[in-house]
Amino acid sequence: MRKKTIEDYVELIYILQDKTGKVHTNDIAFALDISPASVTEIFQKLSDEDYINYEKYSGVTLTSKGKKIAIEIKIKHDTLKKFLMILGISEKTANEDACKIEHIVTPETMKRFTKFVEFVQKFKEEPKWLDNFEHFYKTGEYFESASIESDNNSIHEKKSQ
Ligand code: FE2
Repeated sequence: MRKKTIEDYVELIYILQDKTGKVHTNDIAFALDISPASVTEIFQKLSDEDYINYEKYSGVTLTSKGKKIAIEIKIKHDTLKKFLMILGISEKTANEDACKIEHIVTPETMKRFTKFVEFVQKFKEEPKWLDNFEHFYKTGEYFESASIESDNNSIHEKKSQ
């Protein structure tokens, strides 16, 4: 498993903070299935680097530096998740993979993903070519070749008549 980075912790604090105001040691310990002692160590490190405001026993909040990073990651996460779901990936897997890709994706690639998601979402209904891709994914058949085949059939029918 990939080692958790500062970005991961800041993102998690941001998500939990959003719901409860402050984030406590036990919230993180429970979410990551690690000991409260390990969380205390992480909080200390994040506090030393000015990502969180940390006072023992009163929970933590993100500093403006921490919040800035958290928001950037959250935007990347949401876009990557949408991108993967457009490709037909389940929400659960898209969520998990987005959380990994968001830490390593280059700005150039991220920009393309963002534009692509924006482009696809402009359509009122799911674009036909995405349906075609889904069909291809499931069957290995191109809609185009299927229609050429039926065209050929109709030619044969005409010839044999
Ligand atoms: Fe994430």
